[in-house]
Amino acid sequence: CNVVVLISGSGSNLQALIDSQHEGNPARIRAVIANRVDAFGLTRAKGAGIPTAVLDHKAFDGREAFDAALMELIDAHAPDLVILAGFMRILSPGFVRHYHGRLLNIHPSLLPKYKGLDTHRRALEAGDAEHGCSVHFVTEELDGGPVVLQAALQVKPGDDIESLTQRVHVAEHQIYPLAMRWFAEGRLRLAEQGAMLDGVTL
Ligand code: GRF
Repeated sequence: CNVVVLISGSGSNLQALIDSQHEGNPARIRAVIANRVDAFGLTRAKGAGIPTAVLDHKAFDGREAFDAALMELIDAHAPDLVILAGFMRILSPGFVRHYHGRLLNIHPSLLPKYKGLDTHRRALEAGDAEHGCSVHFVTEELDGGPVVLQAALQVKPGDDIESLTQRVHVAEHQIYPLAMRWFAEGRLRLAEQGAMLDGVTL
C-alpha cells in the first residue's frame, strides 16, 4: 500500500506513522509533501530516507491552482492512500473528490464535536468531561467525513490547553498508525453508508 503524507508542521504524527512501519505496519510511505519549507516533519522524513517535496501555497494564484499542482505531485507516487497529518490547508472539492475513499485526516476532537480550529480551548470552555481525537475519511464537508476511529481521554481538573494538547497528541500517535494499518491490510474502506472495517459499518 503506497502512502503519501501531507504535512505543514512538526510532523509528530508523521513520526508515529514512520515508526509503525518498523513495527510490522505493511503501509509504505513513499513521499512526504509539505506546504511550508520550514516544516520540521521534512527533517523527520529525510531522517527516515523518505523522499520529500515542498509546494508553497503562496506561490500559487488561488486554491485551485495550488491543489492542481499538489495533485500532480502526489499522483507521481501512485498512492493508494493519502494521509493528512497536520496539513493546515483546506482542500478544494475537486481535490477531495479525486482522492475519494483514499484520503484520511486526524482531527483533535471527538468528532462531530468541535470541527475547525481551537478544539482544546473549546472543549475546556464547554466543561467537557471527555476530549480526544478522531481519524476520519475526508469528504467535502470540513472535518465532517465518516469517522474511522477515535481515542477519548478524561479531562482532569487543572487541565489547560497545553496539557490537553499534549495528551491528545499521545492518543493521536496511537490511533493514526492503526488506521493506516487497517487501510493497508485492506480492512478499511469508505462505502456509501460510511466507513467500514472488516465489512462492518463503523
Ligand atoms: C495534530 O494535532 C492534528 O490533530 C492536527 O494537527 C496536529 C499536527 O501535529 N490536524 P503534528 O504536526 O503531527 O505534530
